[in-house]
Amino acid sequence: MTGALLELAIVIPTFNEKGNVATLIAKLDQALVGRRWEAIFVDDDSPDGTADAARAIARLDTRVRVIQRIGRRGLSSACIEGMCATAAPFVAVIDGDLQHDETVLPAMLDLLKTGEAEVAIGSRFVTGGCTGEWDSDRVAKSALATRLSRRVLKCDLNDPMSGFFMIRTDIVRQLAPSLSAIGFKILLDLLTASPQPLRFVEVPYTFRCRTEGESKLDHVVAMEYLIALYDRMFGRFVPVRFAMFSAIGVLGVGIHMAVLTALFVGVGAKFVLAEIVATLAALTFNFFLNNALTYRDRRLKGWRQLVDGWVSFAVICSVGAVANVGIAAFLYEMRDGAWAASALIGVLVGAVWNYALSSKFTWGRY
Ligand code: GDD
Ligand code: MN
Repeated sequence: MTGALLELAIVIPTFNEKGNVATLIAKLDQALVGRRWEAIFVDDDSPDGTADAARAIARLDTRVRVIQRIGRRGLSSACIEGMCATAAPFVAVIDGDLQHDETVLPAMLDLLKTGEAEVAIGSRFVTGGCTGEWDSDRVAKSALATRLSRRVLKCDLNDPMSGFFMIRTDIVRQLAPSLSAIGFKILLDLLTASPQPLRFVEVPYTFRCRTEGESKLDHVVAMEYLIALYDRMFGRFVPVRFAMFSAIGVLGVGIHMAVLTALFVGVGAKFVLAEIVATLAALTFNFFLNNALTYRDRRLKGWRQLVDGWVSFAVICSVGAVANVGIAAFLYEMRDGAWAASALIGVLVGAVWNYALSSKFTWGRY
């Protein structure tokens, strides 16, 4: 074995998995006897000190390496960086929480080495191999996500959501520039990025129960998944961020119109006053939603940044708001009674301003 060439890298994305690091390396060591491998932890600066725990092992065992990413989060991007950080011709991605079965790794490696497949995919053959963690809500979501991804993939893959697979490293490097890197579906990303379909084989395994730490895949991550799918299907035509900003803008229009109707029709306030209040309400609503969703990756956090951001957003958008109110009022004057149409046109003009300026100045500064 000594002197043999490095053949396999195991990329392990981690966030708060301190308690699992040592066990995983021990399990890999057992499963991969006789193979030349290295393990690369890609840790997003976990507060629990996962990176330190991994480095402690790495000092004793030089097959173990650690990439500690600062100020960034994301399962997909972590996997990509890990996969691009090895000289091994084959690379596997495996969860750091021991839920994936590392004992199938040698079989995967052989499939790739013989050229039988370009990708070997760990397939959960018992969807509820671990039923404890998978409540009915999660099972339903997983089924929906699988159906959706099949439509994008246009191929018959049982477990396209799998986070456990092995692939030829040269393919990853070749596809890396066209990966969307959003969210957590790295396998799906790779499969859909490839111009010609990748030859894959599914290797069944049983999804284990998590004993240490907790799952990070929450509702926001589920939404990121939808964004990633959108990006694959329509991203070429309308960029994700602009689409989200616009969608939130439409919700903002709803808020705007509701407030306007309540004040103007309900209370009988002056039109211009009702317009101003409605614009402010929509502005605040849009700021927080865009901050939470559209600009999640550069989200403003804490009172200081939020107040700062809101003020800059308000200042920037005040130009748009003035145009909004001004145009709406002008049109309303011109065509007496067409209050709703006047307001909508005002909103539209304002929205274009808001997007162009805020993406640069409100969320482009930190
Ligand atoms: N670096 C990094 N950054 N690692 C992360 C992040 C992140 O933002 N979020 C999660 N991880 C790591 C976790 O520490 C764990 O090692 C692995 O990614 C999987 O995360 P879990 O939170 O345990 O995911 P899960 O068990 O709920 O989901 C599993 O099943 C899905 C199938 O529905 C994963 O295998 C998914 O990849 C898989 O798609
Ligand atoms: Mn897990």
